[in-house]
Amino acid sequence: MSFTPNPRQLALIKIALFAICLLPLAPLLHAAWSGNFGPNPVEYVQRWTGTWTINLLVITLCVTPLRVISGLPWLTRLRRMLGLFCFFYALLHFLAFIGFDHEFAVDAIARDIFKRPFVTAGFAAFVLLLPLAASSNQWAIRRLGGRRWQELHRSIYPLAIIACVHYFWLVKATALLWPLAYAIAVTLLLGWRVRERQRKAIPVPQSGIAKSGAAKPLKFFSQRPK
Ligand code: HEM
Repeated sequence: MSFTPNPRQLALIKIALFAICLLPLAPLLHAAWSGNFGPNPVEYVQRWTGTWTINLLVITLCVTPLRVISGLPWLTRLRRMLGLFCFFYALLHFLAFIGFDHEFAVDAIARDIFKRPFVTAGFAAFVLLLPLAASSNQWAIRRLGGRRWQELHRSIYPLAIIACVHYFWLVKATALLWPLAYAIAVTLLLGWRVRERQRKAIPVPQSGIAKSGAAKPLKFFSQRPK
């Protein structure tokens, strides 16, 4: 499989993906329009937005392995949009929490974040998401430089682990199936990433060995040298 879209096709793929990422909003808008959020509207909105935040987080993490396995480099061009949609649903999730749960009362919000451990974990994940969303543009990439930008964006892994902890913590012991499924997905994706890094760290002998005769330490490249 070696399909490479031309710029027009890529633009169409991005428009389609944009529309797909908006789909989870439909049930919320429908519920708002019909005034029927079910017996517990706050819980409904929080759970729906939380579920889509973690879904998009895992989907974003899948892009790089999919790109490598499929040999389709252009898939990377979709990652930023997926990540930003993850942030968009996280923001709605957070707004639902501060607006519906606490009516924007700052002291009550702060107390809840410190009191309930699963809220603390959710908040920590959200805080980690902020710099990633803020630096998802060409200007930030130029300002930070490719390497520092990449290092910053690696925090998506601790973020994903904390998001799983948040989910585990809030569900009852009888409903562990979904958090477990997300935790397994994150573990596999993280494991793949670690293995890829090890595979790419190729030892390159120093040219000085020949001259001095002394063995020098090996240098490791994070990328396979061209
Ligand atoms: C990256 C950030 C976050 C992710 C991935 C996330 C994910 C989730 C998930 C998957 C659920 C459960 C959905 C379900 O039961 O089906 C949930 C529920 C919830 N989250 Fe988050 N969350 C995040 C951030 C936050 C933040 C910042 C807060 C508040 C400070 C928060 C507070 C809550 C609350 C109150 C619930 C509902 C608990 C209930 O069922 O009553 N979350 N979240």
